Amino acid sequence: MSINANNENTADIKNQDKYADRVRAITSQMSLNKGGKPKVCVVTFGCQQNEADSEKIMGSAKELGYEKTALQDDADLIIFNTCAVREHAELKALSKTGQLKHLKDKNPDLLVGLWGCMVNQESRIEDIKHKYPYVDFVAGTNMLHRLPEILCDVMVNKRRRYYVDSQDVSVVEGVPTQRSSSIKALVSIMYGCDNFCTYCIVPYVRGRERSRKPDDIISEVKELVAGGCKDITLLGQNVNSYGKGLNGEDKCTFPEMLERIANLDGDFVLRFMTSHPKDASDELVRVIRDNPKIERHFHLPLQSGDDRVLKAMNRKYTAQKYLEIAEKLKSIPDMLLTTDIIVGFPSETDEEFENTLKLVEKVNFDAVFSFIYSPRPGTPAAKLEDPTPYEQKTKRMSELLGLQRENVLKINQSFVGKTVRVLCETKQNEKGLFTGRTSSFKLVKFESEDKNIYGKFVNVKITGFSESCISGNAVFE
Ligand code: 5AD
Ligand code: SF4
Repeated sequence: MSINANNENTADIKNQDKYADRVRAITSQMSLNKGGKPKVCVVTFGCQQNEADSEKIMGSAKELGYEKTALQDDADLIIFNTCAVREHAELKALSKTGQLKHLKDKNPDLLVGLWGCMVNQESRIEDIKHKYPYVDFVAGTNMLHRLPEILCDVMVNKRRRYYVDSQDVSVVEGVPTQRSSSIKALVSIMYGCDNFCTYCIVPYVRGRERSRKPDDIISEVKELVAGGCKDITLLGQNVNSYGKGLNGEDKCTFPEMLERIANLDGDFVLRFMTSHPKDASDELVRVIRDNPKIERHFHLPLQSGDDRVLKAMNRKYTAQKYLEIAEKLKSIPDMLLTTDIIVGFPSETDEEFENTLKLVEKVNFDAVFSFIYSPRPGTPAAKLEDPTPYEQKTKRMSELLGLQRENVLKINQSFVGKTVRVLCETKQNEKGLFTGRTSSFKLVKFESEDKNIYGKFVNVKITGFSESCISGNAVFE
């Protein structure tokens, strides 16, 4: 492991080897006692960034002598990687944590940890201290390199520990990773967020924006491609501002990073998320247009189509500006746009919501991920008056979903008769179908005479569609 940016933590990194040796001594003793390796179960809540983090937790646990299991009943170590973006996500994680008590009663040696965004909030730590006494440790998002130390502390010193520091700005390289797929990979290119949208908890729990060095990212991608990976997603809360803070020979913007990766040898699709409209530049549009390896899909969170609401959200763009960016992106052939929308931001009126509907109609998104506003304690929006009844918000949400259903049906219908290139992501299912995605991230279900196509690109002639996908037959020249 190595560390960039904040050197205060160098000692932490050096000490991890020492802690790892002590943990491994304990897990090998457990192996002897059990007649097999102890097992670890990592459960992920929330976004793709959390999925990527969980792959690191799993990778580190494996190096410490654990074996992966999907079954909590079989596990000797259970880690919940939590989300805080909406209250619902937190309540789900807490309710599942409650269910762990009976496992702990059955197996007192079981270790339970809560990781991630939810536990990077002071108030939640207090909750856990008092209401969930069987949780052995909590660790925030910036602790991924410290699993050896955490487990050592809990196993050797038999202490409940709270490892949280949302303001740590270091970038640690070389944390072991256990990837969940051999053909698709998530690659974090930056951490944290500096945007402070008024509804959002992320900048508080994931800390300030910092970028990985370009050479570290390129090496990781090269290794993935050499290992047969065909679908690579670059991750960050706001990838468009990648590179802020990188200096000298490390200087690199997001379009430059995309272009460097797209120029690497190998047949793969390069994806990325999430983008902030305020930083989506003409140069970015050019790079996508000129590089066919870059996906023909752009996830561009809108949040609201009304200028007053956008201002109250601190989004730093207007509906018109958003539309202009969307039009530029849509001028790239085959490009599909998806978005996130928050319904019922405090004091959003019916007219303001209508403006969102109008914009959704104009842009014609391939998918809209819509969320009813959830107040997050500590964010500016949580202090705003919110007189709109919840039922009215759910009504708005249904209206949005109805409109989107019509849009997507039209988009899916337009594929019929076309032949699309698809990365086959599954083996044949019980209905004889394979599943994959186009460069535009459209889900495709298809039949194929050749059954040996998992992880390969195939051409599929589209013959049918539904609301959720398009369907057809693989064609081989
Ligand atoms: N309430 C509802 N939705 C939210 N999101 C972020 N914060 C909140 C909140 N407090 C949504 C935004 C973001 C997506 C990941 O989650 O739409 O783009
Ligand atoms: Fe949250 Fe806004 Fe940052 Fe996205 S850009 S993570 S919505 S603060």
